[in-house]
Amino acid sequence: MTTPSAPNYWDYLRLEQLLSIQGGLEGDESALMPDELHFIIVHQAFELWFKLAIRELRLARDHLAAPLVPEETIPHVVHHLRRVGTILRLAVDQFEVMETLTPQDFLAFRDKLVPASGFQSFQMRVLEVLLGVDMQTRVRYGDVDPIAHIRKLAESSPASAVALGHLEQAMSEDSVLTALQAWLYRTPIRGSSPQDPDDDRVVDGFVDDYLDRIADLHGRQARALPSGLGVEPSKMVERFAQATEQAAAFLRGDDVDEARRPFIRRTRAALVFVESYRELPLLAWPRLLIDTIVETEEQLVLWRHRHARMVERVIGRRIGTGGSSGVEYLDRTTAMRVFSDLWTVRTLLLPKSELPPLDQEAFYGFQSVQDLAERAP
Ligand code: HEM
Repeated sequence: MTTPSAPNYWDYLRLEQLLSIQGGLEGDESALMPDELHFIIVHQAFELWFKLAIRELRLARDHLAAPLVPEETIPHVVHHLRRVGTILRLAVDQFEVMETLTPQDFLAFRDKLVPASGFQSFQMRVLEVLLGVDMQTRVRYGDVDPIAHIRKLAESSPASAVALGHLEQAMSEDSVLTALQAWLYRTPIRGSSPQDPDDDRVVDGFVDDYLDRIADLHGRQARALPSGLGVEPSKMVERFAQATEQAAAFLRGDDVDEARRPFIRRTRAALVFVESYRELPLLAWPRLLIDTIVETEEQLVLWRHRHARMVERVIGRRIGTGGSSGVEYLDRTTAMRVFSDLWTVRTLLLPKSELPPLDQEAFYGFQSVQDLAERAP
């Protein structure tokens, strides 16, 4: 009987296979210019990181999408999302390696890539879809439709059909955004939950109190501005009044269609509530989750910025191999936000000293402390 051999590093990592797939279109690494090998390896390294980021995103989403998310589950969501953010941060730095490719070096082999492009990175699309990028809205950022592009390719190429399969799978799943919204919707506000008979009144009361405080603060800030800033005082008063109205419109959900408005209004009120009373024990993990989501999206936006600057440095403002306007398109995508409410809410947060008083403070204490208090003689 033969004894099974002990595991070794190269078998475990399938290194032979991994190191044999850098041959590019020729399938022969020795036929490539050194710069092209560099180009392929950098892209493959990115795609490996994307693979891991996608997996982590799905794990985070699964925890968050549960019909009831116990308090102790939120650290798991944060853990997986942090890994996504860290991967993206590392990916941003990796562009430095790409930038050792000079424009002339790249031009030597660029034309043979046409029409292949990072635009076809289906993993980047899966990442976007799982986060919750609305692909119809996305088209507005560059007059190019990444999904339609991959669909078209899938008509004539089996490998593209596989790519499309990955994408369609992701599109059939819940996104982190939808899971987050459902979770926010259920957040108790002033101790009240959606199923409570008086919930609408409690939530409206909180929002009205909050808006009153914003109006009051803005009024004082407008009056306190010193003259001589080069801006008409009346203009400043007008700007503060506009900011007050924008805060009200956001919390009323004016930008959302009527059917979804009550749902979105409650999620926005919950966001303001969690961010405002973030020091309460029961809100400690929720606010960390919100911070982590913002941080993750920030890393993605920074990735887009960094990629665009690297592209500008290497190919200037010429048209991309994928047919987009190139840097102009890439720069426009940096304005995209998936978790736009999480960003918007930052504009209307009040300093602690200006917050409306908190009803039901005990509700937001540590569960164990409450249990102990109830059991105390
Ligand atoms: C010399 C290096 C590079 C150049 C010149 C370049 C250029 C471009 C250009 C011009 C686009 C816009 C689409 C098009 O028309 O082609 C694009 C998109 C893209 N590139 Fe790169 N790229 C480079 C390296 C990389 C690397 C290392 C990655 C890592 C995976 C990458 C990932 C992407 C992705 C994901 C997109 C789609 C972006 C979107 O649609 O929002 N690129 N690239």
